[in-house]
Amino acid sequence: MIAAISSGRRCLAIVLAAGEGTRMKSALPKVMHPLAGRSMLGHVMSAVLEAGASEIAVVVGPGRDDVAAEARAVLPGARIFEQRERLGTAHAVLAAREAIEQGYDEVVVAFADTPLLTGATFLAMRGALDAGVAVVALAFEAEDPTGYGRMILAGDGALAAIVEHKDATAEQRALTLCNAGLIALDGRRALDILSRIGNANAQREYYLTDAPAIARALGLRAAVLTAPEAEVQGVNDRVQLARAEAALQARLRERAMRAGVTMIDPATVFLHHDTRIARDVTIEPNVWFGPGVVIEEGGVIHAFSHLEGAHVGPRASVGPFARLRPGAQLGEKAKVGNFVEIKASTLGKGAKVSHLTYIGDASVGADANIGAGTITCNYDGYAKFRTVIGDGAFVGSNSSLVAPVTIGEGAYIGSGSVVTKDVEPGSLTVARARQSSYPGWAAAFRARKKAEKKG
Ligand code: UD1
Ligand code: CA
Repeated sequence: MIAAISSGRRCLAIVLAAGEGTRMKSALPKVMHPLAGRSMLGHVMSAVLEAGASEIAVVVGPGRDDVAAEARAVLPGARIFEQRERLGTAHAVLAAREAIEQGYDEVVVAFADTPLLTGATFLAMRGALDAGVAVVALAFEAEDPTGYGRMILAGDGALAAIVEHKDATAEQRALTLCNAGLIALDGRRALDILSRIGNANAQREYYLTDAPAIARALGLRAAVLTAPEAEVQGVNDRVQLARAEAALQARLRERAMRAGVTMIDPATVFLHHDTRIARDVTIEPNVWFGPGVVIEEGGVIHAFSHLEGAHVGPRASVGPFARLRPGAQLGEKAKVGNFVEIKASTLGKGAKVSHLTYIGDASVGADANIGAGTITCNYDGYAKFRTVIGDGAFVGSNSSLVAPVTIGEGAYIGSGSVVTKDVEPGSLTVARARQSSYPGWAAAFRARKKAEKKG
C-alpha cells in the first residue's frame, strides 16, 4: 500500500518515548534496547524518515538524557521534548506543542516501543491525510484484543471512535479490530483537536484515541487503515523483545534472499540492520553479522563465522569458524579459512590465510600465502604496530611476525620463524634454531635407564 504524497507536503513525526518500561527490568530505558543491533527508537525514527518525515520530535521522560542522546545519534536534528508527568498519550503528544505550532501539513504520532512498523505503513497514513482525512488511525485484527483500544466504525466504514479497553462495554469488547497506537492528524487541525481532549475516563488519562471522535464532532473525516498484527506488535518485556527480534530477523533475511543471497538455513543466520550482502553470495548455517559488514558478489561465508565491520570482496571465501573483526578488508577471491582471526587488516586479491592464524594491523599483498599458525605480534601491551607483507610472499607455518616488520614481495619465511627484522623482497629468511641430530642417542639412553632401574 505505497501511497504517493503530493509534493511539498511537510510532515512532522512525533515519537513517544516517555514510557518507563518497568517490565523490561533493565537499567537501560526500554526504547534503547536493540533489535538487529539498533535501538527500537532508532528503528521507529528510521521508518518515519523513510516515509519522508520532514522533522522528528521525540518525547522523552523526565531527565532521560540517554534517550535524547540516542535520538540525536540517529538524527542530529531531532527535536527533544520532555513530558514531565505521564498523563496519557495525548498529553505526551502535546509536550511537543512547540513543534506542532511550527505549522505542518501532517502530524504523525508513533510509539517508540512498536519497532516493526514499516516506512510503507507510515506513508499509507500520510496518503490518507493527503486525500483529505483529518485523523487516521492504524488498526489490526487482534488474535486476543484484551487491553487494546477498539475501533468503532460508522455505517460508511469511517472511523467513529476508539474506545479504550477499560472504558469499553461488553459489546465493544467483543470487537477484534484494535488500535495499533499509530495516529496521524491533519497538521492544520492537530492542535485544535488535541486541545479538546479531556481525561474523563477510567484511567483519568488524556487519550490520543479520543482524536477521531472529536474530529467527527467538528465535521471532519476520520479513517482507519489496517496493518498485519506482526507489524504492530509492541515490546514491553524481554519475551516480546525476543519475539520482535525474530520477526525482524526474518524480515531482513527475506529481503536479502529476495535480492539474490542464498541462505542454506536462514533461521540460523543473524543479520545486523545495516548488513549489506550482494547477489550470489552464499551464507552457510550459523553465521553472525555485527555492525558494518559488506559482502560483495559471489562470496561464500562458511558455517559458524562471526563478522563485524568487515568488507569481503567479490568471490572471497570466509570460514568455516572464521572471525572477521572491524577493519578486516578482503580483496577479490581472498580466502580466510578455519580458526582464523583478522582485525584492521587488508588482504590483497587472491591472498590466502587458510588455517589457525591471527592477522592484526597488517596488510597482506595479493596472492600471498600465510601458513597455518602464523601470528602477527602487533601489540606490546602499550601500542599497536603494523605488519606489511608483500605480494606473493610465502610465510611458513607457525611463524611469528613481530611488528613493526615488513616482509618484501615474493619473500619466503621458513616455518617456525620468529621474524623481528624486515625481510628483503625475493629472499629466504629462516629465523629459528638450527636442528641438531645425534644418531643412536635414543637407544643408548633407554638402555642406560633400564640398567639403572634394575641395579
Ligand atoms: C495505547 C492506545 C490503545 C492501543 C495501544 C496499542 C491510547 C490512549 N491507547 O494503549 O488504544 O490499542 O496503545 O498498543 O493511546 N506514553 C507516553 N506518555 C504517556 C503515556 C504513554 O509517552 O503519558 C507512551 C508510552 O511510552 C508508549 C505509548 O505512549 O510508548 C503507549 O502508551 P501506553 O500507556 O502503553 O498505552 P496503552 O495503554 O498500551
Ligand atoms: Ca502499551
